[in-house]
Amino acid sequence: MTSAQDKSEWFSEARYGLFMHWGPYAGYGRGEQVLFREHLDQNDYAQVARAWNPARFNATAWADQARRGGFRYAILTARHHDGYCLWNSSATRYTAAAQAPGRDFVREYVEAFRAAGLRVGLYYSLADWRIPAYWDGPAKDPGGWERFRDYVHAQVRELLTHYGKIDVIWFDGAWPHTALDWRSVELVQMIRQLQPDILINNRLGTPSAAAQNPSSPNADGGAGPGESRELGDFGTPEHHITADSNRLWESCQVSTWRLWGYARGERWRPADVMLDMLVECASKGGNLLMNVGPTAEGEFPPEFVERTEQIGQWLHTHGEAIYGSESGEVCEFITRGRQTRKGNNLYLIVRFWDGRPELSLAGLQTRVLRAVLLTTGQELAFEQSEDQLILKGLPTERPSALFPVIRLECDGRPAARPWAVDRLWSGDASRMTDWARAYRE
Ligand code: GLC
Repeated sequence: MTSAQDKSEWFSEARYGLFMHWGPYAGYGRGEQVLFREHLDQNDYAQVARAWNPARFNATAWADQARRGGFRYAILTARHHDGYCLWNSSATRYTAAAQAPGRDFVREYVEAFRAAGLRVGLYYSLADWRIPAYWDGPAKDPGGWERFRDYVHAQVRELLTHYGKIDVIWFDGAWPHTALDWRSVELVQMIRQLQPDILINNRLGTPSAAAQNPSSPNADGGAGPGESRELGDFGTPEHHITADSNRLWESCQVSTWRLWGYARGERWRPADVMLDMLVECASKGGNLLMNVGPTAEGEFPPEFVERTEQIGQWLHTHGEAIYGSESGEVCEFITRGRQTRKGNNLYLIVRFWDGRPELSLAGLQTRVLRAVLLTTGQELAFEQSEDQLILKGLPTERPSALFPVIRLECDGRPAARPWAVDRLWSGDASRMTDWARAYRE
């Protein structure tokens, strides 16, 4: 049996995952929740869904794109809240296999991504908006609820039985029901039996009534008020980047505005904004799960391809500062950018390239042995005094369209001097008194 740490090692090493929200809703071009948000007629929607046939979907092309973009794992929506299934489920005919495409998209995805060397995960929505018992819940419709819950458990069993090793199962949509209602503890037991090494996210419903406080810090955006942090292996801050010091975490983010499914006429985040999210996650010790909503025909939108290609190229040169890195906020550095750390190396990810030949870092206690501008491979001269490290001979032109990176190779694990361990606005303020006393009128 593998230990908890072994089975999650790849996840921290990976740092960068690709989220794919894809289903019949893509055809509407107004996000993944158009059925509910626009109060569409259930039968009209289902008719469109049954006819949906993304003829251009090519899982190998997606996998190639993901690799080129520098992603190390992926999560595909096997089923979203509309209930349509991308795999060949024997529990329903509302599937890509039984309807127009006649294909098992989950199988195609898993096989292509695995062949490309990526870890594979599946998103599964507990909620199914077509089912009255989902809305009524167990108190109002005990029989209907039980049948619905059995359906959910049976589908999870299928997904984790028929596709070989699955690395992540990503639940969503437990709201408004509790972990008890979903029998989430039993669900987790079944999952661990089927896939001992799998990682499970934290959206399996509130384990107890006491935890159902909507104002609790567990109330993550789309996770729904009070969804559990107790069950599962990793936290899922959504639309924000907040470190979780107690467990693995992964911030899920859109490359667009706020919808996860394809949105026609969308405005896209620039590549440097997307890359900054990845750097921020890594600098705080977590992962970024960056989303794309592929088109109804089955392709990644060109805007997404363009941006992820740029980030992929950046990672090709600078990936050692991200993959397998640890949280790196060693010194104060926000006047220039962010930091990550790995072993004895400290990486300075420079956001503000100001064209001056010198760059300083204050408060680094560890001795620097060598400094390299990773972007060009240039070795940098430097001077290090007790409080200041001054790097010299930097090019005046920013050497990369995205963020240049400097690797500081130290003689031990990079650490800050005592005064610099805490950031401004934290720690014992009186540690700075002597520094202020130096001021003369
Ligand atoms: C929210 C939304 C859902 C989306 C998810 C991604 O929970 O309900 O549409 O899939 O966030 O984290």
